[in-house]
Amino acid sequence: MAVAWWEECVVYQIYPRSFQDTNGGDGIGDLQGIIRRLDYLESLGIDAIWLSPIYNSPMADFGYDISDYQNIDPVFGTLDDLDQLIQEAHNRNIKVIFDMVLNHTSIEHPWFQESRLSRDNDKADYYIWSDTIPNNWHGAFGKRAWTYDESRKQYYLHSFLEEQPDLNWRNQEVVDAMFSILKFWLDRGVDGFRLDVINCIVKDKTLRSNPKIVGSRPRPYDMQRHIFDRNRPGTHQKLRMMRQLVDTYPNRMLVGEIMVELPGGEPELAASFLGRNRDELHLSFDFSLAYTRFNAVKWQRGAKRWCEAIGKNRVPSWVLNNHDISRVMSRLKGNVAKAKLVSLFLLTQRGGSIFLYYGEELGLPDSKVPWKAIHDPLGKRYWPVHPGRDPARGPMIWSVEEGYGFTEGESWLPFAPDAASYSVAEQEQDASSMLHYYRALIAMRREESIFRRGTCSYLKTNNKHTVCYIREYDGEKRLILLNFSGRKQDVTIRDMKHLKSDWILRFTSQRMMSDTKAESFVLQPWQGCIYSLKSKSS
Ligand code: GLC
Ligand code: CA
Repeated sequence: MAVAWWEECVVYQIYPRSFQDTNGGDGIGDLQGIIRRLDYLESLGIDAIWLSPIYNSPMADFGYDISDYQNIDPVFGTLDDLDQLIQEAHNRNIKVIFDMVLNHTSIEHPWFQESRLSRDNDKADYYIWSDTIPNNWHGAFGKRAWTYDESRKQYYLHSFLEEQPDLNWRNQEVVDAMFSILKFWLDRGVDGFRLDVINCIVKDKTLRSNPKIVGSRPRPYDMQRHIFDRNRPGTHQKLRMMRQLVDTYPNRMLVGEIMVELPGGEPELAASFLGRNRDELHLSFDFSLAYTRFNAVKWQRGAKRWCEAIGKNRVPSWVLNNHDISRVMSRLKGNVAKAKLVSLFLLTQRGGSIFLYYGEELGLPDSKVPWKAIHDPLGKRYWPVHPGRDPARGPMIWSVEEGYGFTEGESWLPFAPDAASYSVAEQEQDASSMLHYYRALIAMRREESIFRRGTCSYLKTNNKHTVCYIREYDGEKRLILLNFSGRKQDVTIRDMKHLKSDWILRFTSQRMMSDTKAESFVLQPWQGCIYSLKSKSS
């Protein structure tokens, strides 16, 4: 069967506010900025860009509260800018993925403005209304999930901020309206959608209370099992319909964000939204590894579990960073060797899509955002227990001049500490930089189909500080060894079947030399290595 592009691609997520400002220095990135940097994106070797929301929005949740789904917020540009972006991206063989928020709108959306007026207007049932607070549901950003509306004299449901009322997906008119929005963008040339909190769209019909969890967690939202406000069986039917719609267009893709119980690992749930017959989402995110401590046993366990949940006939997607979580470089406390190791892991995984987040290729850490500079509503509510998500959304570092090539004005968020040491301009000049390292890994993945299509089996070794797996495709093999410890490690692979031949070092995360004898390998601290078989002629 022919392999679809989304089954083997590298997607680069852009947080448009922080990528490149072009219009006279308002300190906020814009669409012309992304266009200006398309050559850079092409040079990375990525296949697609995913843009966090750019629709009209009052920005209570920075674009995840949409007031007009069929227009571009003036802060980012115009529909003409968007058309130009799609055109110019496509000219470079880069696909454009939109972020689509189907669970809720902005409170300023005309539907909600109408819906709140009375109980019998045209849009009265577009949202979920109740005379009393019907259950114990909480908003993910704090407070109860129900807010009283003075004009309608009823409570409305919001799974996130009160500025983000939840749509009523049991109303066919809502389904039709959202589907026609998808069509609007597909017709305009958008190559797919990242679907925000997609397992939340359908709620329990009778709005039953969620069971409570015992213990203590900072967010009341995490003190219950979300069985009635998430993952309702009806979601699957909606996703099948959505898939059918999207598949009437050639080469389009849906990737879903699945909200899970803490601490981030429910891969079976994420996989379930791909559909038993591959008839729901094309791809879904599992965030286990983004929440897994840097530890060989835990990483291997997490990756295996995700692959097993996905099975042979579907493809996994892999992600370490996004706009909601602390950047991997900060999670690893600035240890470059560790960051190189985990990206080697990421880019040698089977199949699917590898999702990178702007700045990841520079080794960019989180920005430090003082209390006064916090924008993110989550940070405002939970600081200092949760610093919010602004730190992971700091501006891109393009050069070392003032404004770091990002803006001529005052940036909307602080730059990362020591920003000058991460710039694209300087890293371009340095062959040993993180940027060149990412490029090399992406290029290898692009050129050698074994990394995308090959099977992946984990091998038993004598050493619990290391992870070892073998990729096989079309008679070829690659052996990958990763040392998760700060000490030199000797590794002997127990499964001898793979070791009848000699291995040669193809790629290393560090320049140190590494033994390549067949039976055992020596890995330097935090070293990751890719070996291939010595060809018979050599
Ligand atoms: C998703 C988005 C996040 C947003 C939330 C509500 O989790 O990734 O940024 O705040 O949905 O839309
Ligand atoms: Ca701007």
